[in-house]
Amino acid sequence: MDSGEWCVEKRGSFRNESFRDNDNVPETGCLSIIVLGASGDLAKKKTFPALFNLYRQGFLQSNEVHIFGYARSKISNNDLKERISGYLSQGKENAEEVSDFLQLIEYISGGYDSEEGFQTLDKAIYEHEISRNSTEGSARRLFYLALPPSVYPPVCRMIKSYCMNKSDLGGWTRIVVEKPFGKDLASSEELSAQIGELFDEPQIYRIDHYLGKELVQNLLVLRFANRFFLPLWNRDNIANVQIVFREDFGTDGRGGYFDEYGIIRDIIQNHLLQVFCLVAMEKPISLKPEHIRDEKVKVLQSVVPIKDEEVILGQYEGYRDDPTVPDNSNTPTFATMVLRIHNERWEGVPFILKAGKALNSRKAEIRVQFKDVPGDIFKCKKRGRNEFVIRLQPSEAMYMKLMVKQPGLEMSTAQSELDLSYRQRYQGVTIPEAYERLILDTIRGDQQHFVRRDELKVAWEIFTPLLHRIDDGELKPIPYKAGSRGPVEADDLLRKAGYVQTHGYIWIPPTL
Ligand code: NDP
Ligand code: BG6
Repeated sequence: MDSGEWCVEKRGSFRNESFRDNDNVPETGCLSIIVLGASGDLAKKKTFPALFNLYRQGFLQSNEVHIFGYARSKISNNDLKERISGYLSQGKENAEEVSDFLQLIEYISGGYDSEEGFQTLDKAIYEHEISRNSTEGSARRLFYLALPPSVYPPVCRMIKSYCMNKSDLGGWTRIVVEKPFGKDLASSEELSAQIGELFDEPQIYRIDHYLGKELVQNLLVLRFANRFFLPLWNRDNIANVQIVFREDFGTDGRGGYFDEYGIIRDIIQNHLLQVFCLVAMEKPISLKPEHIRDEKVKVLQSVVPIKDEEVILGQYEGYRDDPTVPDNSNTPTFATMVLRIHNERWEGVPFILKAGKALNSRKAEIRVQFKDVPGDIFKCKKRGRNEFVIRLQPSEAMYMKLMVKQPGLEMSTAQSELDLSYRQRYQGVTIPEAYERLILDTIRGDQQHFVRRDELKVAWEIFTPLLHRIDDGELKPIPYKAGSRGPVEADDLLRKAGYVQTHGYIWIPPTL
């Protein structure tokens, strides 16, 4: 059996036996997927392509599934299909599959608070269900809100009033919502309360696409299925942890949205904090979604307030040239900050979260730096420390920087690595897109990789005081050149937090 088959089989057995909480709801039969905001950027670039990939792989069957696009834009079915087909097609190679997939899509135009619009939508869904021999209320309805959060409350009210499956007849209705879920603790809680009045928590899937990335999903296995990490993963051995997100492009036409949110709300409070939870949390008592999410909440509750002197903000030069960004914008496009955890495992270990746009490279990684070897007889300090690096993207990999004897007659030491580069190790295995995996989870009723309401609340509690100080102009971003490493002050903070950079060693992803 090759490694590809192994992966698929293992993943399947994980999910069916241990990951799912909702074993009493039907996961087969007629399925309607409704993409609200179908005319938008996310729908075009991520949602429809993910649905297409699921279709190609046989996870969506044309005799069961119908996809509805809904938005205000007065466009035709064909307009929508044309808009998205460029993101699906790989030339002639898959033209037939693309065309078959597009047949499953129907566009309906209507407002986000329009009773008439949602009644029309409900009628169309119902007709599809009847055509598949389902009785009313017995089918599955998945609503994907690819919309700005400002319209979540009216949309949820309309779904509840006009498009709701009667779950007592055996079907289900699930709602997928995108980040940013609120702008601070108060607004997020208000949004949660509004949606919570309409839907039960098991029906709500708060998506954070970082939780769908291959190496993020691997963190639990790595940490808790490997004996040799268990004794090392603590304050006795680890000097510091960095969780880094870098992009080599700016706000790229999304300046208006970005300026309202900034890098902390866009990346750190959600994507990096989710990764932080999986790196720092204690072992859950089982793989059930609620047990995992309980542990995430606990570690978040142990984070102490962020100190101003442990935050560096930046804004790239040229950011304000975007006509949708105010000339006096104080919004950070870069931030480095230290999170500290007050618990037995992590007391004294800085977790450095860093994210920036318009930097000199694109990558996301976790870097765990170990302490120096005590009683060192090899002068290792001069060469650098052991590090365990998990490269989330691009070129997924895990590598361990370690000291070895330099091959040859001399007894000298050198930094080298144990390298698990995915492209090389798992040749021929396609790593699924995060959205693909997460949409499949919503269809299967697996909430493990989604953010629970109390988790979201603590996440906002951590960042809200800092965000308010930035919004009030008390903390100012330092200008940095687009295409640079960001403000040099961020590297100073890193050093102060105890990170020791290795000079003269660079890991180069192996080529095939
Ligand atoms: P868009 O700005 O493209 O909006 C999606 C659709 O919503 C639009 O086509 C428009 O449809 C409708 N819309 C836009 N503004 C408003 C408004 N003020 N009031 C009512 N309807 C409006 O957003 P994206 O597709 O980029 O993002 C959707 C959601 O996903 C957001 O919450 C975003 O933060 C999140 N997200 C986006 C990512 C991306 O890469 N784009 C990545 C991660 C998350 P119409 O006018 O036809 O009704
Ligand atoms: C989104 C942010 O959530 O994540 C974007 O809104 C960012 O600003 C994107 O570019 C990055 O996602 P990925 O998967 O490309 O790292």
